[in-house]
Amino acid sequence: MTERLEANDAGIARAAELLRAGGLVAFGTETVYGLGADATNDTAVARIFAAKERPRFNPLISHFPDAEAAFTEAVPNELARRLAERFWPGPLTLVLPRQPGGTISDLAAAGLPSVAVRVPRGAVTAALLRATGRPVAAPSANLSGKVSPSDAYHVMRGLNGRIDAVLDSGPCQVGVESTVLDLTGTAPMLLRPGGVTIEALAEICGPISHPDDYADTLPVSPGRMESHYAPSLPVRLDAQEVGADEALLAFGPELPGAGLVWNLSPSGTVDEAAARLFAGLRFLDSEGARRGLTRIAAMPIPRAGLGLAIRDRLRRAASPRPA
Ligand code: TXA
Ligand code: MG
Repeated sequence: MTERLEANDAGIARAAELLRAGGLVAFGTETVYGLGADATNDTAVARIFAAKERPRFNPLISHFPDAEAAFTEAVPNELARRLAERFWPGPLTLVLPRQPGGTISDLAAAGLPSVAVRVPRGAVTAALLRATGRPVAAPSANLSGKVSPSDAYHVMRGLNGRIDAVLDSGPCQVGVESTVLDLTGTAPMLLRPGGVTIEALAEICGPISHPDDYADTLPVSPGRMESHYAPSLPVRLDAQEVGADEALLAFGPELPGAGLVWNLSPSGTVDEAAARLFAGLRFLDSEGARRGLTRIAAMPIPRAGLGLAIRDRLRRAASPRPA
């Protein structure tokens, strides 16, 4: 049985108690719902991998209520401190060397000398992390390879019965996962475009390579497996026209003639489109399949702002599936 907890004091206290006891609790963040466990507890972390059916070589992000807590587990350099100051709490994950004597489990870090840390935005999320009092490891709260969850209902669809509870703080505001930036090398390296845009990062880091330029050669981050966010219907990108047998993921004015439409943003705004992306993929997939449609056709998304993160998720939703 998976408990559904309200985002009030009692719900937050119950969620923290479950986490401290080694349980699995999904919780909302500004990006997507995370599947949380005590990051210092190997058994609890192992349960995340089992519940998601996630490959164990893929390390997890640890979540903290503030930068001070995050830097007890990760060694910040000067740039990390400036980025934390500017973007935390918010959708930025920093990959940094692990603190000697840190408490994060080797399983959460997948045995790497580095660790991914983030301070999510949102009063409920911060209250939960504070009440738990330990780093909370949390990948997106979906079965591995499937579409990420942007509300508690999505979490239940995939994980009901596999996890102890979901703390329901409503739909996620940003809608795509955090930007992952590796600061362990000589220059900052983008591992995943996400909720903090490249343009915003560049104000602090200077120019960062554009992910669309080299997305296909990016699997430096162990989690960047090609097929991901995969609906059951095949996905076609950059559609210029659409057939009656297709479900259209529209952006801006809709192409005519589709069998089914979800418009990410009629006004063509990438922030709105990001917030509606995963719900749209889920809708077109289930409703499209029910109506016997053959594929999802996605209209072009601009390469700017959150458009980069959307393009990255769509490209992976469209890539060949493992047999
Ligand atoms: O927005 C988010 O980041 C959400 C919410 C729940 O916080 N979490 C999330 O986690 O998307 P997950 O596990 O789905 O993605 C974590 C990404 C993976 O691509 C993983 O490979 C990478 O971060 N990562 C984690 N630790 C790493 C490390 N030490 N070195 C390089 N990449 C790492
Ligand atoms: Mg994920």
